[in-house]
Amino acid sequence: MKKIFYLLLSTLVISACTNANPEDKEKEKFIDNLMSKMTLEEKAGQMNQYNGFWDATGPMPEGDYQKKRYEELKNGQVGSMLNVIGVDQIRALQKIAVEETRLGIPLIFGHDVIHGYKTIFPIPLAESCSWDLELMQKSARVAATEASADGLHWTFAPMVDISRDARWGRVMEGAGEDPFLGSLVAKARVSGFQGENLSDTNTIIGCAKHFAGYGFSEAGRDYNTADFNEYTLHNSIMPPFKAAVDAGVRTFMNSFNTIDEIPATGHTNIQRDVLKGDWDFDGFIVSDWGSIEQMIPHGFARDGEHAAELAVNAGSDMDMESSLYVSKLVDLVKNGKVKIETINDAVRRILRVKYELGLFDDPYKYCNNERSKKELASEENMKVALEAGMKSIVLLKNDKSLLPLEKNGNKIALIGPLATDKNSPLGNWRSQAVYNSASSVLEGMKNNSENKISFAKGLDLYYGQTNFHNRVKVNYDDRSGFEKAKLIASKSDVVVMVLGEEGHQSGEGRSRTNIGLPGLQLELLKEIHKVNKNIVLVVMSGRPLDLTWEDKHIPSILQAWQLGSKSGDAIANVLFGDYNPSGKLTMSFPRNVGQVPVYYNFKNTGRPSTSIEQVTNSGYADVENSPLYSFGYGLSYTSFSYSNLSIDNDNMNKTSSIKASIELSNTGSRKGKEVVQLYIRDVVGSIARPMKELKGFKLIELNPGESTTVEFEIDNSLLEFYTYNKKWESEPGNFQLFIGGNSNVSEYKEFNLTD
Ligand code: NOJ
Repeated sequence: MKKIFYLLLSTLVISACTNANPEDKEKEKFIDNLMSKMTLEEKAGQMNQYNGFWDATGPMPEGDYQKKRYEELKNGQVGSMLNVIGVDQIRALQKIAVEETRLGIPLIFGHDVIHGYKTIFPIPLAESCSWDLELMQKSARVAATEASADGLHWTFAPMVDISRDARWGRVMEGAGEDPFLGSLVAKARVSGFQGENLSDTNTIIGCAKHFAGYGFSEAGRDYNTADFNEYTLHNSIMPPFKAAVDAGVRTFMNSFNTIDEIPATGHTNIQRDVLKGDWDFDGFIVSDWGSIEQMIPHGFARDGEHAAELAVNAGSDMDMESSLYVSKLVDLVKNGKVKIETINDAVRRILRVKYELGLFDDPYKYCNNERSKKELASEENMKVALEAGMKSIVLLKNDKSLLPLEKNGNKIALIGPLATDKNSPLGNWRSQAVYNSASSVLEGMKNNSENKISFAKGLDLYYGQTNFHNRVKVNYDDRSGFEKAKLIASKSDVVVMVLGEEGHQSGEGRSRTNIGLPGLQLELLKEIHKVNKNIVLVVMSGRPLDLTWEDKHIPSILQAWQLGSKSGDAIANVLFGDYNPSGKLTMSFPRNVGQVPVYYNFKNTGRPSTSIEQVTNSGYADVENSPLYSFGYGLSYTSFSYSNLSIDNDNMNKTSSIKASIELSNTGSRKGKEVVQLYIRDVVGSIARPMKELKGFKLIELNPGESTTVEFEIDNSLLEFYTYNKKWESEPGNFQLFIGGNSNVSEYKEFNLTD
């Protein structure tokens, strides 16, 4: 019935519109019409989002809390739900919204589809190390196809927080430390999730989060205060959010931290002035989980009513799980603390997105059990996971050319608790992945080669089962497996050790102050090293770890992150050379935790340090300032050389452009892919400028002995930044231009910008 009502309504609206932009006009008219029928209670209801609170395909909800929510659902006081999983559940709840509420407005169902739904891709930090934007778009497309096949409309991704602090567990969800790369990744992921047309049945809406500055949590402690200035906000934090808006993202999520001492959820400037004002964003902002209510412990809101008032007035449109909009907004409007126009604007935004998804035409359009059975974890999707896995691996060291391994004739010892772990590679935020469903390194290696592989775990990394809600119980005392591991290591030609973090040691609420290999793993590695020096270390982790000892003593190191469903196969393909590693780090690896935050685009300071011996310079007495492995760094089984850096003109103005080029040669004996990176330094600015900023990159594949010229065009847009004038503009003066295979590149050409 309700469906027919909406169809009729849209038909009426279509015929009423003769405007040049008929689709938008039709949409807004439809919303006007619907809103004219809504009570204030129903409007507040659209702004309310609840977590799935009962098995909707089972018996009626029990318990006061559940019953109250059920009543609210039937009264049209719920606009969205999260974490309701599966076609049957979603259909059952949608049916209540559509058939039992007065106006039958469909719910929008959201969930954290962060790196895959059933088919799990590498964690986003890993995938960003591929620098392959097409791939990232493709994996997001697959994730959207699977999630929508299972009834979902909306993912709370991509997380586009820039972060420089490996202690923060949530670095695994983002694209690392650089705003330029982060912006391109944001665009790729939004396009992947949202596809060509939101009303298609295999697209879901994206959500740029966490707005803003969450990645700058002090000391890397999750949910902590963040401290940064206005210029850092605009130059380092905001660009990926802006890119997401430009790519058409339909929702934003705000963040738990404060900005200028004001909780982001109650921050008018970033939500209303910047996002909805300057950037013209016409989708909606959802709070983070409970972040409206959490303005009370922040010491910013007196009570729930005050928190709702502050949040809605600041521009937060939907309340995730604080229950404060549904309970307080009506009175706040009645007593004049919140204007009805503010509510109308928020509701319009939410209804607009529901309309664009096509939910008013068919609220059940994503609910198709047949499709769900066919598309989830399909063979085709798994192929994308394998491709993404291989491309995300970064070769950090290969001194004795131990890698790639021979496919037969070798006696290989495979050691380490993560070598047979089928769960950790799924990482955190693994959505609907089946427990223990990743391929393990042992499986991958056995499938790939004829070698004799002896396995010993060496130790347990952790005890018990891990999940999103518990702490990983790390083994700090049981060394009983060391002897067997040493024995097989001593009898082998080469030892592959798979060490690192359990899959839930990074992610939300997983900050660490010690970012070395957890537990007894380094001790085991040192013991093995005593009996066999030919070690290939495979590091599985959800963050950059402190690998200083490892770098000094272990000849080959592969950073394999948490690569998802096809992890073991991807790692084996790289170990045996079926895939030549091409990943480059998107986050710096510190020499030790005391260096953090450490990042390549730092400022020079007034007393730059070039050596540890300098006392009154900005350095440390014990380690150099540079990270162990820097942003953009990664090796290949072949080698590349760069020569003849040149620019076609050393003068440009704000309307012209120049071309920079360099010759790249594959000087090794294998075909390989290189990420050629362009960096620019703005030598003098109205504010202190970074020593280098990434401004372009190209993925170039070359055969052995092959050379090519790689070109970049530099125009004014690449030189702009948020200046002292609080404007996005470039400033005339001198610039240095660098092209190379990582952010340490030192040779440069100079050019001058005039007005
Ligand atoms: C809290 C997290 O901060 C956010 O990223 C996530 O989307 C929500 N919970 C919903 O699960």
